[in-house]
Amino acid sequence: MANEPLTILVTGGAGYVGAASADALIEAGHRVVILDDLSTGDSYLIPNAASSVTGSYVDRDRVGDLIRDARIDAVLHCAARSIVSDSMEKPERYYRDNLIGSLNLLDAVQNAGIRHFVFSSSAAVYGGAQSALIPEDSMTAPINPYGATKLAFEHALRSYAQAFDIQVLALRYFNVAGATERVSERHTPETHLLPRIVAAAQSGEPFTLFGADFPTPDGTALRDYVHIADVAAANAAAFAALQKGKIGSTFAAINIGSGTGTSVREAIGAVERASKLSVKIDQQPRRDGDPASLVANIDRAAKLLGWRPRQSDINRIARSLFSTS
Ligand SMILES: NC(=O)c1ccc[n+]([C@@H]2O[C@H](COP(=O)([O-])OP(=O)(O)OC[C@H]3O[C@@H](n4cnc5c(N)ncnc54)[C@H](O)[C@@H]3O)[C@@H](O)[C@H]2O)c1
Repeated sequence: MANEPLTILVTGGAGYVGAASADALIEAGHRVVILDDLSTGDSYLIPNAASSVTGSYVDRDRVGDLIRDARIDAVLHCAARSIVSDSMEKPERYYRDNLIGSLNLLDAVQNAGIRHFVFSSSAAVYGGAQSALIPEDSMTAPINPYGATKLAFEHALRSYAQAFDIQVLALRYFNVAGATERVSERHTPETHLLPRIVAAAQSGEPFTLFGADFPTPDGTALRDYVHIADVAAANAAAFAALQKGKIGSTFAAINIGSGTGTSVREAIGAVERASKLSVKIDQQPRRDGDPASLVANIDRAAKLLGWRPRQSDINRIARSLFSTS
């Protein structure tokens, strides 16, 4: 039987992951209320069918009023500061917003008696790779303030879930990539691999490839690219699983990835095929701290959410980047 429609507060719903996830939640029959301060998002990404408020999730009283007035049943917390290099230069902003601000949001959620909370966490909680495929119970040892704030808030969520009547899923996304018909990636600065390769292909400027002597089949680093539509579907599946009472514990961290390692050279090849352009490469030594491989074990997502990646083949991801208007 289909689940009851929920009214879901999506923080960061004017951003890349939040907007695509809002689309998926609306498609699943839910009502969506977006709270976004438009610091890195764009109002044109807010779905027409959603209602929206411009403001910050760190404002506990305002969020409390919004939860009451909009009769919110559940929360998807996508908003964050999420640029790794920025987090190393301005750690205070990351701790203030991603940790203290998120605690304010969580207090408002708990005061309002909301029982279902889904958090956009990150593979950055793992730090360096510890095994070929990373399961959720691997050691967590973030190597930058961004990852540290994601992990610290996960710890808070686990404690709240144990103490109060709230059930939490922390979805640890790996490298979200690609575009849906409506939503594509555009971060400033753009630090993600595929948009940087696309920019190099389109401009003719060389793409800087760091490290070609990793212990991997072609010497370049392996990462896990997961299509934005699959991530959006995972967020919708998370609410469905919470509603059906399928999780069996009050807190679970769940990897959301393709489960496949793609090398930098394979990603370049995929963009070249999709764009019919060629990419010039400027090969540089490895950067400090860059692990050879970061790839998800995705068994738990299949078991708890009934979710599998359907569109996360690297060629499909690359093609999606050239098929949007
Ligand atoms: N994109 C990825 O590859 C990736 C990977 C792992 C985890 N994540 C996580 O997914 C989430 C979304 O990332 P994204 O790539 O869509 O980033 P994004 O920058 O496109 O979206 C973030 C959104 O949050 C909004 N926002 C930021 N601070 C806010 C605040 N204080 N109050 C209200 N709104 C605020 C921004 O305006 C933006 O619309 C983040 O939590 C990020 O850490 C993303």
